[in-house]
Amino acid sequence: MKKPLLLLASMCFFGMSATAAPEIPEGMGVLPTEVPVPANNPMSDAKVELGKKLYFEPAVSKSGEFSCNSCHNLGTWGVDNQKFSIGHMWQRGGRNAPTVLNSGFWSKQFWDGRAPLLEDQAKAPPLNPVEMASDSADAVMTRLKNAGYEPEFKAVFGPNALSFDNMAKAIAAFERTLTTPNAPFDKFVTGKGTISKAAQRGMKKVAEVGCTSCHSGPLFTSNAFVPFMHGTDTGLKSVTGKDEDDHVFRVQSWRNVAMTAPYFHDGSAATLAEAVKIMGKVQLDTDLSKNDIADIVAFLETLTGESPVVTFPLLPRPMDKALDWKE
Ligand code: HEC
Ligand code: HEC
Repeated sequence: MKKPLLLLASMCFFGMSATAAPEIPEGMGVLPTEVPVPANNPMSDAKVELGKKLYFEPAVSKSGEFSCNSCHNLGTWGVDNQKFSIGHMWQRGGRNAPTVLNSGFWSKQFWDGRAPLLEDQAKAPPLNPVEMASDSADAVMTRLKNAGYEPEFKAVFGPNALSFDNMAKAIAAFERTLTTPNAPFDKFVTGKGTISKAAQRGMKKVAEVGCTSCHSGPLFTSNAFVPFMHGTDTGLKSVTGKDEDDHVFRVQSWRNVAMTAPYFHDGSAATLAEAVKIMGKVQLDTDLSKNDIADIVAFLETLTGESPVVTFPLLPRPMDKALDWKE
């Protein structure tokens, strides 16, 4: 008597979700198309174009060699594939460079979330001594002025607009365009394509073992900050000094994760298989079998979307003379 009722109940449940095919675990879905935009920085084509120039602009760095694209290379999925990036004077920072792709979807920026918005984040690297190492915001703006950016800022932000804040706004607007739709998984969800049997097993496995309690929803991250007791970096505690924030990091998205090795905030996992194994052990106290790991990796590989095609912009430069890189 009970069995048919249960069957009926589950059929009703699946019947209710409009887009997801029955075999997709709850919560998983297509990458959203709308990136949240803060009210004080509306998008425009001109702003995005300026932001793109600034993203590729080495004049923002003291040496005149480093742009955002040096470490977040848009030809290689927004990362540099280094354990720790190389910055000013060959220095290496203490954290792995996460991708800028889809970064407009994250709740807060940086592994420890210390920058609330992309606008806040973009002001950090130009002045970070191990990254672009400029002496001050003024020094950056003098460079941009000498390069010929004044009319470009004016056209987007109005008169007297050449400012560090507006630079960050334009870069953030550009970054919000860097989404990666149409991954094989997205096509599978919408019935426009399929994924391998191994990937389908992996998809079920991540739900079954509980990965998706953190890597949840269509972004495959809850965007929450949780402890990850691995390595010596104390994460959010290094910002707040609070014990409760010890080893707290943002749950990383699985979108395009197959293309962004090495893994973790410290780049300590060289392969995706290793990262999956460690996650199982550290976050879920589970020893995943070799087969399960292979299936999960096969599933994660289906989350690689279409990378935005970005044409290298022509940057403003003075005629007949070089910029002064010494300052
Ligand atoms: C020298 C290498 C380097 C340069 C240059 C650099 N970054 Fe980064 N970026 C990093 C590293 C390393 C992190 C992670 C730091 C952390 O979390 O503490 C990071 C983090 C970020 C994040 C946060 C992503 C996330 O998932 O939380 C964004 C967005 C970003 N950078 C954008 C930029 C922009 C825009 C520029 C240019 C203004 C830039 N970066 C220049 C290395 C670099
Ligand atoms: C309790 C929450 C939680 C659970 C459960 C969890 N993760 Fe994570 N995951 C995180 C956090 C936090 C990070 C960021 C770790 C860091 O700071 O290096 C992460 C990072 C990752 C990364 C590396 C991403 C990158 O870009 O470096 C992969 C891959 C991953 N998780 C896969 C999994 C898999 C597979 C499972 C299930 C076996 C799982 N996770 C379970 C919280 C979780």
